[in-house]
Amino acid sequence: MSKLSDSLKEVRKLVDEELDKLLHPLANPEKRVIEAMRYASIGGGKALRPFLLIQTAQLFDISPMQSIRVATALEMVHCYSLIHDDLPAMDDDDLRRGKPSCHKQFDEATAILAGDGLLTRAFEVLASDKTWVDPVVRCELISLLGNAAGMHGMVAGQMLDLMSEGDLELSLTDIVRLQSLKTGRLLVFACEAGSVLGGASFEERQALKNYAADLGLAFQITDDILDIEGSVEKMGKNLRKDVKAGKKTYVSVVGVEAAKKKAKELITHAIETLQPFGEKADLLRDLALFILTRDH
Ligand code: IPE
Ligand code: IPE
Ligand code: MG
Ligand code: MG
Ligand code: MG
Repeated sequence: MSKLSDSLKEVRKLVDEELDKLLHPLANPEKRVIEAMRYASIGGGKALRPFLLIQTAQLFDISPMQSIRVATALEMVHCYSLIHDDLPAMDDDDLRRGKPSCHKQFDEATAILAGDGLLTRAFEVLASDKTWVDPVVRCELISLLGNAAGMHGMVAGQMLDLMSEGDLELSLTDIVRLQSLKTGRLLVFACEAGSVLGGASFEERQALKNYAADLGLAFQITDDILDIEGSVEKMGKNLRKDVKAGKKTYVSVVGVEAAKKKAKELITHAIETLQPFGEKADLLRDLALFILTRDH
């Protein structure tokens, strides 16, 4: 696994360098919002989504230096989603990535704006010819990310997640849909974007999307298990909140043991899906295994 952790660290470093350039604070008083954007994005988190994007592109011989700006745009959208997810009106969490959440460090209004700023900056970056020369590819990425993050994707999943705290009835199928929307869609975008950059065939792209969809669901299931069993220190966020909030999750419906079994099945299936890519996909296989055994 050490090759995986070295590679994740390398991606984290590349993303941080890019964020530092793309979120450059100016000397104006409004730089406060840029400082909040930097606070919530630089130097924290596992960088899983950029890793997936960069590794997928690498299957098609696209180098990390070529895909890094697209990967960084995706990380910006992820960080925006975390800032808003932690707000008092949503999950009301005051610890994120081992430090005070954005609204605790700054204030609620600044955190809302920092989220808005990261989301919009991500699309500005994707639209730039410094990100990718071919405008057709850029338009496709913009459309795919808008769809994955928006009202038919992550935003829809977050809406359902919040409604699940109330009396919205959800079957297990509904919960799979909720989790695939709120978490899966950004992971699928990561692998789809890597496939678009690499000029993958229809079949290759489909296989990579299927891999990411399984991974996304397994990732949220393990997040929900860790909310019950994990260590606050290792996770860097407050835990044991889902039950208190009355959230309906895969775990709340089937219990921890059945959820672990499901995560294992999903990961086994995800790894099988990578079969056509041979040894080149070894790090993607390692990542899938990491998701199953992760403690952070
Ligand atoms: C946390 O995502 C939110 C979920 C979708 C469960 P990550 O666990 O990838 O968060 P960071 O980026 O590593 O902090
Ligand atoms: C967050 O899910 C999903 C998104 C941010 C889209 P959670 O609410 O379970 O994530 P954590 O546990 O706060 O990281
Ligand atoms: Mg949430
Ligand atoms: Mg949350
Ligand atoms: Mg959680």
